[in-house]
Amino acid sequence: MVSIHPDLFKILRGYASLTAPIYLQFPAHLEAQIINDFLVDDVLLNLHFQQYPPSKQYQKSFWKWVIPHLEKKVQTEGDSEAEVDSRIYELYSQELLTSSSTPSLRPGNAELTAQSPPAESYITHFWRPGGSTSVDIGEWQTTTLLESRTLIESGTTGLRTWLASLILAQYLILNPALVHRKRILELGSGVGFLGSVVASLQLLAGHEDAGTLVMSDINDSVLTRCRDNVQLPCNLSSSHPDVRCCFLDWSAALDPNDIAPLTSLLREEVDADLILGADIVFDPNLIPALVAVLRLALESHSRPRTALIALTIRNPATTQKFTDAVRDSGLILEKLDLDMDDKMFMEAVEGGDANIGVNIFRITVQ
Ligand SMILES: C[S@@+](CC[C@H](N)C(=O)[O-])C[C@H]1O[C@@H](n2cnc3c(N)ncnc32)[C@H](O)[C@@H]1O
Repeated sequence: MVSIHPDLFKILRGYASLTAPIYLQFPAHLEAQIINDFLVDDVLLNLHFQQYPPSKQYQKSFWKWVIPHLEKKVQTEGDSEAEVDSRIYELYSQELLTSSSTPSLRPGNAELTAQSPPAESYITHFWRPGGSTSVDIGEWQTTTLLESRTLIESGTTGLRTWLASLILAQYLILNPALVHRKRILELGSGVGFLGSVVASLQLLAGHEDAGTLVMSDINDSVLTRCRDNVQLPCNLSSSHPDVRCCFLDWSAALDPNDIAPLTSLLREEVDADLILGADIVFDPNLIPALVAVLRLALESHSRPRTALIALTIRNPATTQKFTDAVRDSGLILEKLDLDMDDKMFMEAVEGGDANIGVNIFRITVQ
């Protein structure tokens, strides 16, 4: 068992998921030496973060928050021997503070200045099958992604993970039987967080036949990033034998020229038991096409099929338009009762603070 104090684990998870320091709590009740050791061994020298680091911008803001707290803690303990570990100062002053620019993680990208929008970054989410109370790190899974930290990049919203994905992932982690040995299709999968978690859940069930997962999106760069993320060697999803990413434009469902290949893709190739989608209702104009795709995928009569669509309620009128369109198309829609006050993902805590709600809708055929 590799246990860690819960308050330090929260900091570790916050650092890994680039949680803004204002949402972190410095554990001033712990001994300075314990905090020092944790920061050096588990954060600064952590092999995972050396390979998949948070952006320099984030690291800078994290250490800028930590250092004064740690200095104050050392002073108040009054132990003349105790001091902030020099490696922390070295990292901050030599690597982070002196780099006025934020080097890109990929060659070829122009360097950004400190005033630039947030740079793309690796982000690591800790999650635990069955719930989030254990402090034994060995019981936790991690999912790591390289993603944009801006809301829109290169004209797409798909290059970062959105709150609805975190909430739907939590729902599935708490109800893993929904994905075990199932054929799954994700619509508008973005950079692949939800899919990577689903693939891991399928493998964790330990069945020989884990199930299948097809992640789909309209944007080629998003699909490339999604594929890369799911295949990162640190992610369990990389060892799933049957995960793929494919181009799927919902508007094909309303185009007489495209509907036949789309129907064949949905009903013959993918043949999904469960269709997932997170934050895919944001433009009212796309609703008719999305609902048409859902109908095509769900109304294949050989066996019962279900869709779970998680929506961040930014504009209630848009959500209403979606729920009306689903019901008008003859599908059954119900809003799930989510008993998830305890947010499993640190970023969800941050996003949830903005009073934005996420609903999960279950959609089935009559
Ligand atoms: C707000 S992002 C959500 C991404 C991801 N599901 C998440 O929650 O993090 C919306 C996604 O829908 C995709 N999308 C937008 N229009 C689409 C269309 N017509 N067909 C398929 N995907 C589309 C975008 O490329 C983008 O990845």
